[in-house]
Amino acid sequence: MISIQKAVIPVAGLGTRFLPMTKAQPKEMLPLVDKPVIQYVVEEASRSGLSKMILVTSEGKHSIENHFSRFPQLEEILMRKNKTEDLNQLNWIQSLGEFIFVTQPQPLGLGHAVLCAEKAVGNEFFALLLGDDIFDPKEDALQALIDAYISSGKSVVGVQEVPHDHVERYGIVNSPDNKKNMSWCVNTIVEKPSPNETLSRWAAVGRYILSPAIFKLLQETRPGVGGEIQVTDALSRLADQGELIACPIPAKRFDTGNKVDYVKASIEFALKHPEIGSEISQYLKNFKT
Ligand code: UTP
Repeated sequence: MISIQKAVIPVAGLGTRFLPMTKAQPKEMLPLVDKPVIQYVVEEASRSGLSKMILVTSEGKHSIENHFSRFPQLEEILMRKNKTEDLNQLNWIQSLGEFIFVTQPQPLGLGHAVLCAEKAVGNEFFALLLGDDIFDPKEDALQALIDAYISSGKSVVGVQEVPHDHVERYGIVNSPDNKKNMSWCVNTIVEKPSPNETLSRWAAVGRYILSPAIFKLLQETRPGVGGEIQVTDALSRLADQGELIACPIPAKRFDTGNKVDYVKASIEFALKHPEIGSEISQYLKNFKT
């Protein structure tokens, strides 16, 4: 079994939960202190040894492509001014991997976005990372899934327990039969069930290792919940074949496409930032409404 080389990162959604901010700027470019959300996702993939970052963008999202492409004019100015630290930040982005951009012509759903990456992926297992879900960078969330793939040889969905009244926001897999915090073979996965349809609280949280067999299943998948082509519906067929493993992710997660989580992430990342952390901490201690 070869290790995973390619990451597919869809960033072509409309981001309607964050309007009007997302009218002209993708939510994946929202800053967490001094880096856009999408850079944290790419850094996570890079830390797990992935070398090819396939970003699925839409026609209007040039800022994402610009962020991961070189900017020779700026590099030259920084060099001339001896701004080595700033230059290092730019070089760091280029060192994260090779960037490949594919276009999703219309936002027909996450499953459709993944299908747009088929040619770039080819016939190998790949990682799928949602461009607005981030995990505490101290814990390597994706690595847990890669380990589960290596030991099972099967597709893997990263899961975490969510409050019961939140199940209708996620793809929900059946609970494990036995102990928690170990991977288990998925029997069922259902997109956005209502709380009275499921007892499980195990939600798919934006990280997957997928077999290339997913592409044929996605081609056969008709629009599902919300009229969108759902990756969950194709995964459900992998589960029917006994080919899907659920792997708990032991890392704090922020869904930055959601305003509350985005603000919480901004505060936590600011508090941990080496340059501004102590000042922000002092500010929050003295803060009165
Ligand atoms: P979301 O469902 O969170 O994104 O998809 P969205 O549709 O943009 O969000 P809302 O609900 O309207 O606020 C998860 C990831 O999949 C991408 C999004 O950009 C996001 O990173 N996505 C979603 C696509 O690339 N294409 C799609 O058609 C849908």
